[in-house]
Amino acid sequence: MSSGSILPYFVSGIIVKGFGRGSKSLGIPTANFPEDVVDSLPQDFKIGIYYGWAALEGQIYKMVMSIGWNPFYKNEKKTMEVHMLHNFDNDLRGKNLKVAVMGFIRPERDFASLADLIKEINHDIEIANTNLNTQQMIEYKSCEFLTCS
Ligand SMILES: Cc1cc2nc3c(=O)[nH]c(=O)nc-3n(C[C@H](O)[C@H](O)[C@H](O)COP(=O)(O)O)c2cc1C
Repeated sequence: MSSGSILPYFVSGIIVKGFGRGSKSLGIPTANFPEDVVDSLPQDFKIGIYYGWAALEGQIYKMVMSIGWNPFYKNEKKTMEVHMLHNFDNDLRGKNLKVAVMGFIRPERDFASLADLIKEINHDIEIANTNLNTQQMIEYKSCEFLTCS
């Protein structure tokens, strides 16, 4: 499945506070984009789970991103949440995050249990980790959008 010619999609914004479930109940912290960034996504940008590159404070990380309403939590507001494949021990709120959205993984969906949601997210992380190792993806890691300050 793909989102067609919209990818790669480049977006940046200041990290805001999410609902706080990412690191607490899931053990998978996410950096959330602010509302105006979410609202500026193109109309035809498909809701779902994506992988790509993230740039934060001069470092580039692999990332997975969820775009949508989190059916498991029945959110009323659409969110864009980025999980970077790195352990950060500090709060990332207020920092500028840039992402290059490279590929679509799956639609977002509801789950019977929190454990099932966590299992699926870990599977998404594996897919991102593998797909971002290809030469084509690695070339984007040094693209100007991510590396310029
Ligand atoms: C890679 C990834 C995949 C996700 N997939 C789903 C999903 O399929 N369904 C869902 O309800 N939420 C999904 N989530 C969203 C989590 O439920 C969300 O990160 C969590 O609610 C934390 O939100 P918070 O940061 O606003 O507290 C996904 C999150 C990530 C990072």
